Amino acid sequence: MVKLLNMSSLKITILTLFPEYFESVLKTSILNRSQDAGVVEYQIVDIRQFAQDKHRVTDDRPFGGGPGMVMKVDPIALALDSLAGGSHQVGLPGKKTVLTSAKGRLLNQAVAREYAVLEELVIICGHYEGVDERVAEHLVDEEVRIGDYVLTGGEPAAAVIIDAVTRLLPGALGNESSTIGESHDQPGEFGHPQYTRPVEFRGWKVPDVLLTGHHAQIEEWRKNQRS
Ligand code: ADE
Repeated sequence: MVKLLNMSSLKITILTLFPEYFESVLKTSILNRSQDAGVVEYQIVDIRQFAQDKHRVTDDRPFGGGPGMVMKVDPIALALDSLAGGSHQVGLPGKKTVLTSAKGRLLNQAVAREYAVLEELVIICGHYEGVDERVAEHLVDEEVRIGDYVLTGGEPAAAVIIDAVTRLLPGALGNESSTIGESHDQPGEFGHPQYTRPVEFRGWKVPDVLLTGHHAQIEEWRKNQRS
């Protein structure tokens, strides 16, 4: 595919204990095409590579007791430092580092738009019972959640964030589609119904107005459907 020139691109880096999770996700459809077109660049970093001991341990028991394991702060900090060429910082213009977490800020279309205008987005995938709180306190700009439910890990959340953000990048959807003027910045408004051929199937008919070729009437019908 031809590389798009003069287009600012977003670099998305994913820190994970499960790099293989993203193999198919990033090679599929629009995400893959966007990377080929130079609209976005994905980088996967295996947190385990930054574990300090010979067994490459990335989690440990929680201080104070309790079930489960907690992701350690040091491998994550070292991974971030290496990406930043030495010393990772938060609060930089054009860059955000986020941690997937069930207690984070809720991802919606406005948040996705915020991320889509960055130059760099770093997503740390939380896992196990939790992540040492010092990651949230010192190493990220914010925590983000994709819904009000608890996942086993942050990888599906990262995949959702990447998808929602990538499709907003100029050039990601090609010329045929546009996200400008999309209705679903408003909660509950998710576009109008769409139909394609056949005109009738099992007696289920496409609304007549869509077959008229009358653009103003079609637009009016679609607007009514959205509200
Ligand atoms: N980790 C566990 N649950 C999550 C959620 N809903 N969103 C993001 N990360 C999570």
